[in-house]
Amino acid sequence: MENFFICGGNKLSGELDISTSKNAVLPILAGCILCEKQIIIHKFPKYADTKSMLDILESLGAKWYFQDESVVIDGENISKSEIPVELASKIRSSIFSLGSILSRFKKAKVSYPGGCAIGARPIDLHLKGLKSLGVKITERHGYIYCDGSNMKSGTVNLDFPSVGATENIILASVYLKGKTRIVNCAKEPEIVDLSNFLNSIGAKITGQGTSIIEIEGVQKVDGGEYTPIADRIITGTYIIATAMCGGNVQLNNVNIENVSALVSKLKNNCCKITYKGDKLILVADKKPKSIAKVETMPFPGFPTDLQPQITSMLSISKGTSVVVENMFESRFKYISELKKMGADIIVNDKTAIIKGVPQLYGATVMSNDLRGGAALVLAGLVANGYTTVCDVKHIDRGYYKMEEDLQKLGANIERIITKA
Ligand code: UD1
Repeated sequence: MENFFICGGNKLSGELDISTSKNAVLPILAGCILCEKQIIIHKFPKYADTKSMLDILESLGAKWYFQDESVVIDGENISKSEIPVELASKIRSSIFSLGSILSRFKKAKVSYPGGCAIGARPIDLHLKGLKSLGVKITERHGYIYCDGSNMKSGTVNLDFPSVGATENIILASVYLKGKTRIVNCAKEPEIVDLSNFLNSIGAKITGQGTSIIEIEGVQKVDGGEYTPIADRIITGTYIIATAMCGGNVQLNNVNIENVSALVSKLKNNCCKITYKGDKLILVADKKPKSIAKVETMPFPGFPTDLQPQITSMLSISKGTSVVVENMFESRFKYISELKKMGADIIVNDKTAIIKGVPQLYGATVMSNDLRGGAALVLAGLVANGYTTVCDVKHIDRGYYKMEEDLQKLGANIERIITKA
């Protein structure tokens, strides 16, 4: 088991380059299934999840290799339309490959996807959307069998702007003759990035970033090169870390608009935040104050993937704050661990009421999911004494060597490997 051992109390200072977005790269990798030529993805983030997605491509017949900071993917020999269950169960994003496989082979067999234990995470919207495009779907023995031989372009109305369903339907529509419209689609920056990537290799997608996306079918996409966007959740995590610890930090490779929901909450709270091009400069010289209400929403609202981290900050902020989690029903699980460190939080269904305490105390806590684990690390950075965050494999799914990033900023954190 790998753990983080943290000695709290250091201020953060220095400069950090933000790495590429996991949630942008995953659907882009699924998009590579559409392509019979070579695609190079630059600044490839080698997180556990992105590596699992490369394994999925390989299992379908693709070849890939790392070249410095890029990954080169050759989809010429992709010939399988079935994802092995052991790979699909590792990451939820395996489900995106359904749309791409259907585009390329007009049939697919996948199992239900895995991912973080933050809620039920159904895929009904994905399947309903594909059915609107004429895909026949049957479910047997835990597998989803899709027959796309009669797939046609058309209109898909999403009941909720699901990120994954929007991405899947875009990928399923790239080769459909005529125009496909996705109404009430997600507007997240990762959707825009997927569309921009697909357009860069020959797809015809418009409306990305708005609530209606249109895909004009093309006959083939080409090979190409692409650099995906920086990770807005990692950016936000380190912004919150600095707000909690105090200090003076410059984050490079930041798209300011993508973190504005967080920045607007912190600007008049405890930090001065300024920008120079793609650099965000943050000076935190006051203790954070409570925030009346933080409510998670689809983009451009406050991201659910930063909810645990902001709750961690509010646990040491003067006054009482309310956090409402609207996206995932089990996303407060980390709070029981945070309470072991002295946090005063009451959870009632999707609402957490947080009474700020003057100080958290070091403890041994368990990381049970990706962002909840990150929130515990932030708590450890500011706590009095030593904290061990146990089993950081979930954190590694979305942060590449988080401890090294934080060490660069002056935190006292180490990865300790324990033997069973
Ligand atoms: C993506 C992100 C995840 C982020 C989430 C919301 C990736 C790899 N993951 O997840 O980090 O937290 O967006 O911003 O990009 N839902 C259904 N039926 C469906 C699909 C979704 O009911 O078929 C529900 C979910 O249970 C959830 C809500 O819709 O309550 C949002 O889910 P969705 O936007 O699909 O998130 P993901 O794509 O899973």
